[in-house]
Amino acid sequence: MSGPILIFDSGVGGLSVVPPLRHRLPNAALVYACDNAMLPYGTRPDDWLVTRILAVCEAAVAASGCCALVVACNTASTLALDALRAHLTVPVVGTVPAIKPAAAMSVSRHIGLLATSATVARPYTDRLIETFAADCRVTRVAADPLVHETERLLAGDEPDPSIIEAVTAPLWQESDLDTVVLGCTHFPLLGERLAAAFPRPVRLVDSSDAIARRTVQVARDPATRAGRDRSLATSPDAGLSRALAGFGFDEPQLLIVG
Ligand code: DGL
Repeated sequence: MSGPILIFDSGVGGLSVVPPLRHRLPNAALVYACDNAMLPYGTRPDDWLVTRILAVCEAAVAASGCCALVVACNTASTLALDALRAHLTVPVVGTVPAIKPAAAMSVSRHIGLLATSATVARPYTDRLIETFAADCRVTRVAADPLVHETERLLAGDEPDPSIIEAVTAPLWQESDLDTVVLGCTHFPLLGERLAAAFPRPVRLVDSSDAIARRTVQVARDPATRAGRDRSLATSPDAGLSRALAGFGFDEPQLLIVG
C-alpha cells in the first residue's frame, strides 16, 4: 500500500537517519514521529517501555497511513522489535548497534559501545557482541547525558563540552581502543563535537546508512513527497519544532496515544 515512510524515535535522534534516507529515496514522503513527552527512553524500565512503544507506534502508523515504519531508536529496537512486528501490518525496520561493521574495521580488536543505559545492558546487545565481535574486547559506556545534550543542540543551544568529555572518558582512556559504535541515534547528530572529545583519532561507526539501505528494500511503494514532510509529537515544544524545521519537516502535529 502506498504511503509515506514513518520514522520513529523518542526525540530528535531519528533525524540522524533522515539525510541517508533522503539520499537513497529523494522523492519519498517522510513522516517523523517522536515521543518527546516521555524522553528519555534509555533510563526507563523495560516492561513500561514495551507497552509505551507499541502504543505510540500504533497511533503514529494510524495517523500517518505509512507504508513502512523505521524504528530509528536503538533503545526501542533492542527491546520491542518482535512485539512491533507482531502487532503492526506494515514492514518494520529496526536500528541496532553497529557492532558487526565496527568489529570488521577494528585493527586493535578493542571497540567501544556508546549507547543508553538500556541498550548497553540488553540481552540483544550481548547476542550481537557474541555473534559478531567474539574476538574483540568491547568496552560498554552508558551515555544518557548525551541524549539531552543532542536535544539541546538541535533546539539551538550549544551542548556543554565538559559533559561530552566526561561521558566519553572511559572510552578515550583505553589506549588501544580504535573504533566506537554510536549505539544511540542521537549521538551522530553531535558530529564534530563528539569527535573533538577524543584526544586521539578513533573511528565512529553508526547504523544510519544501513537503515536507509534496508528501508529501500522493504518500503515497496513509498508515496511521493508533496511540499514539506509532516511530523507528529506527543508534546508541543518550540525546541523540537526548530529541530524538525532544520531537517525540512513541518511544525509537529499532536500525536494522541490511546
Ligand atoms: N535515540 C534513542 C536510541 O537510539 C534513545 C534516546 C533516549 O534515551 O530516549 O537509543
